Amino acid sequence: MRSRAVAESLPVTRQVPIDPWLPWPMISPFMSALPERSWCEIRASALRHNLRALKAWAGSAELMPLVKADAYGHGMLPLAHWFEEAGCPWIGCASVHEGRTLRDAGIRTRILLLSGFLPQELDEIHRLHLVLTLSSLPEARQAAATARRRGRPMEVQVKIDTGMGRLGAALPDAPGLLRFVWNSPHLTLTGVYSHYASADSDRALTRGQWEKFQSISTPAGIPRHICNSAGMFALPSSCGDLVRPGLALYGVCPLSRHQHLLRPVMTWKSRVVAVRSHPRGATLSYGATFRTPRAMQVAVVAVGYGDGLFRALSNRGEVLCRGHRRRILGRVTMDQILIDASAAPLPRKGDEVVLLGTQGAETLTPQAMARQAGTIPYEIWCHITDRVKKVHC
Ligand SMILES: Cc1ncc(COP(=O)(O)O)c(C=O)c1O
Repeated sequence: MRSRAVAESLPVTRQVPIDPWLPWPMISPFMSALPERSWCEIRASALRHNLRALKAWAGSAELMPLVKADAYGHGMLPLAHWFEEAGCPWIGCASVHEGRTLRDAGIRTRILLLSGFLPQELDEIHRLHLVLTLSSLPEARQAAATARRRGRPMEVQVKIDTGMGRLGAALPDAPGLLRFVWNSPHLTLTGVYSHYASADSDRALTRGQWEKFQSISTPAGIPRHICNSAGMFALPSSCGDLVRPGLALYGVCPLSRHQHLLRPVMTWKSRVVAVRSHPRGATLSYGATFRTPRAMQVAVVAVGYGDGLFRALSNRGEVLCRGHRRRILGRVTMDQILIDASAAPLPRKGDEVVLLGTQGAETLTPQAMARQAGTIPYEIWCHITDRVKKVHC
């Protein structure tokens, strides 16, 4: 068991004294000696809050946090350790590679592999004690053969397709698959699940999926689960034995009327590296898509699409600097953006810039950024590249 102190907070990177030559608020206490150009602060306090809120919401259901895709861009390993310490009985990942990374880092919690698998991966899945998702009889036979050859039963969950059309046995095939798994001495059934396709937007489809899932009978004592974040809020009565939130855990509620229950876990920041004055009629950035309508102050911020900032935010996105919203002017480039720095208090070189999160009285949410970029909050997070340091604090 790791120490309670570790359970209380995510690992904190080396803290250094604030550089005296950089005036507040130009430096974060979490930075290494050399100032980062773009970084994400991932707050354990917000994660703890969301975990508690979701547990309270889900009633008696257990929680399976999803850590796939680098925990939705929040840093898979620190978060997986934190979830394990917080007592989550399961975590969910998408690939064998993710599962191996988790095991190599010492994660002992049960890990459900949510994606489909290739036959060549079965030995490794078995070796790593990952829990396999089965969607068909041939898959179940392959898994059983692998387990028999390796001399130990394999833990599996049976997935049923109730309307997502991705993985899972079709309803008529589900009883046969369940019977095979239940009767196989080489397979240990640890759950039966399905997945909502549109719980945030289609009540009828969601209810229909829930009814189909309920129509499947499963052995007593085997956990059943269907809820992602949207399912939890759209149809709380379907929380069942276990819920599998990702989005909500990281602070975005798919049903906006419940957003007040959750806190954003990530703050994405950068800093001003130059401030320029331009006369009226100057063109800015590639393609000259912005022409100054008057004399303007423009700040250059050290973040671009090379860091995962969507180029679609060109001429439409906003950032915060000195507590005020500032428009992105011209095209987002690979390493830098230009922002309107004309309004007081005037941005200065070295200033901290917030792309996602709060500064002063203003907040920029992943939902708003996603709307401006024509995408979804998941993709905003997953798009952030490795060049952006994740600071767990
Ligand atoms: C099978 C499965 N369950 C749960 C989730 C979590 O969804 P959300 O992040 O919307 O809560 C996902 C996400 O892709 C998933 O694929």
